[in-house]
Amino acid sequence: MPKPPFASKPAGLAKLTVGNKTIDLPVARGTVGPDVVDVRKLYAEGNVFTYDPGFTATASCESAITYIDGDEGVLLYRGYPIDQLAEQSDFIECCYLLLHGELPSPDQLKTFRNQITRHTMVHEQLSQFFRGFRRDAHPMAVMCGVVGALSAFYHDSTDINDPVQRTIASHRMIAKLPTIAAMAYKYSVGQPFIYPRNELNYSENFLRMCFAVPAEDYKGNPILARALDRIFILHADHEQNASTSTVRLAGSSGANPFACIAAGIACLWGPAHGGANEAALKMLEEIGDVKRIPEYVKRAKDKNSGFRLMGFGHRVYKNYDPRAKVMQQTCHEVLDTLGIRNDPLLQVAMELERIALSDEYFIEKKLYPNIDFYSGITLKALGFPTSMFTVLFAVARTVGWIAQWGEMIEDPSQKIGRPRQLYVGAPQRDYVPLHKR
Ligand code: SDX
Repeated sequence: MPKPPFASKPAGLAKLTVGNKTIDLPVARGTVGPDVVDVRKLYAEGNVFTYDPGFTATASCESAITYIDGDEGVLLYRGYPIDQLAEQSDFIECCYLLLHGELPSPDQLKTFRNQITRHTMVHEQLSQFFRGFRRDAHPMAVMCGVVGALSAFYHDSTDINDPVQRTIASHRMIAKLPTIAAMAYKYSVGQPFIYPRNELNYSENFLRMCFAVPAEDYKGNPILARALDRIFILHADHEQNASTSTVRLAGSSGANPFACIAAGIACLWGPAHGGANEAALKMLEEIGDVKRIPEYVKRAKDKNSGFRLMGFGHRVYKNYDPRAKVMQQTCHEVLDTLGIRNDPLLQVAMELERIALSDEYFIEKKLYPNIDFYSGITLKALGFPTSMFTVLFAVARTVGWIAQWGEMIEDPSQKIGRPRQLYVGAPQRDYVPLHKR
């Protein structure tokens, strides 16, 4: 299937006057979304840098993978709306879409599913790697270590300049992350590792590797597996977020893909990013009762408290995160299936959302629930401990990281990422010998 002919187009010039010099900067336009001012020649012609800590107004690359409209609450994977994919697609099909740019034909999907299935086992030696961790190590620490170690096992897919090796590495990462994640969980609970089964689909396989025990046959619940598959779809990619930008920056130096994904996992762990699902559930458990919500909302509004409502707010979404809507529906579906309709945590979450969304502070700052607000309740109901929530986020986001990494490697204009700075340190000065200080 021909790749869509997407590329940016010229859209005139922006004029920037610095001192007594006016510099013409090209403006480029994409398919949809804000135009960009190309500042690449600004330093050479104007001897100035742009300044944008946190990259609030900076486009780091040209990408055709995911589009977000934060004001409208829109999220598209290769042009397809997230709610349609969550409803009608499955995670492996979305992986194909993110990697290749188009929905697969039946034959392409069958081949791709088989390719991923055939890579789900890990090198047997890798299981020794876990032995070095304490049983109570945070699973994200284990994931950083073990995924980074994959580059020590798969030398035949670390040459980033070989498209065949890039494809194999991509398939290996998508296939092995659930196996490694399940091993991290099993290790933390002192149970034996469970091997993947080729007759199961991606999410069924993951649930079985996490919750089966050798002492009895495992009977999976297809409704819960489908719910987890949908959760994976929601988390698969999200434009140039912090962990994706980390993967791109690591990859821009030529580091091997396994090391780049390990860097993405490390960044995702932070509570301001992927770690928010763990933090959000802990916050809901700490609130404990709807009567205590006003006290926490008050703290969240107090700058000096240092407290924020975890699972609320977003750098891009200034409207409801479209993933949070699907996440909330999935949460109700899982709790209904498990017969825990009156989960007190869900009651607290829904009342907290209701109060926050009617509060002037949250309305004025456009703070809405994000994907992490309802995911924790759902994952807890599925049987995962809080410490595994961000691990599941990493399992799902691996395909997005890999797709973005591949797009960067194939971009002819890409070069090593190397930002500059505004230096505010000491001017040059001479060394003072110790006896003269
Ligand atoms: C993810 O980038 C992505 O796409 C990430 C992600 C993905 O799929 O990859 O979507 C996944 O990381 C979702 C976000 C999960 N994080 C949280 O839920 C943590 C809680 N939220 C925040 O800390 C915050 O909202 C961020 C980090 C998500 C966004 O921060 P920004 O864009 O840097 O905004 P900010 O910190 O400058 O906040 C703007 C204002 C501030 O007040 P003022 O300084 O203007 O007075 O809003 C306030 C903040 O104090 N604010 C909050 C708040 N979030 C922002 N106040 C209370 N509770 C909050 N949660």
